[in-house]
Amino acid sequence: MLLGVNIDHIAVLREARKINDPNPIDALGICKLSGADQITIHLREDRRHIHDNDAKIIIEQSSLPVNLECAIDDDIIDIVCKLKPARATLVPEKREEVTTEGGLDLDSNFKRIKKAVKKLHENEIEVSLFIDPDKKMIELSSKLEVEWIELHTGAFANIYAMLNSSLKYTHHSIKNLEIPRNELQSLLKESIKNIKKSAKIAKKLELKVAAGHGLNYQNVTEISSIKNIEELNIGQSIIARSVFTGLRQAIIQMKELI
Ligand code: PXP
Repeated sequence: MLLGVNIDHIAVLREARKINDPNPIDALGICKLSGADQITIHLREDRRHIHDNDAKIIIEQSSLPVNLECAIDDDIIDIVCKLKPARATLVPEKREEVTTEGGLDLDSNFKRIKKAVKKLHENEIEVSLFIDPDKKMIELSSKLEVEWIELHTGAFANIYAMLNSSLKYTHHSIKNLEIPRNELQSLLKESIKNIKKSAKIAKKLELKVAAGHGLNYQNVTEISSIKNIEELNIGQSIIARSVFTGLRQAIIQMKELI
């Protein structure tokens, strides 16, 4: 299983002090040496963590392919086309959200996404769409002629956390936080089934399948064992563990698990 390490979270720590330390660029060599397969970063419209200059240097200096997540926004797509990462992952973005909640709505944004995909392809950038594990979204992805889809595992991860820890999670797909345990167990099964089914449909449509969001050292094998998924993009849990073990160990341990 391929591992993309999302290094935004290093920039989140830097931005807490608005200085130049820790520098996400310093992670590139460690990621490569520890067995990561890809560097993932998100250039958000509000530049709350990764800045344009970070993205530029990361793409220039990384010996691993860079997967640049971005919104379907003309200005951002223009910047991405100039930066020329190996892959652009189109994600929905809301300024007020803490992290990316839910996948792209390909139905109501079809024309805008088609235009963005065309532009990215003209610039030799492969495209991935961050979508919920949903048949219709996968079929629309195929119509959009992208190379990859990334299945949003946030709903799965939140249900898993509600079952296995005292954390009360909020997620757009889980409105009622007082869900009984047996109901959570069937929701978890259902969410894994959806991801499996979606990966299978995507594979049949010749889409490459990645997955990510909320994956950690406890829940990741449920997803990494799914046959048609070939890549996981993981950030928060790896960077959180690296505070205690160092980034190298945190990546090696994740790579071993998946
Ligand atoms: N994949 C995508 C498309 C994302 O937006 C994110 C969050 O930045 C991730 C993967 C990684 O999620 P997490 O930080 O929860 O591992």
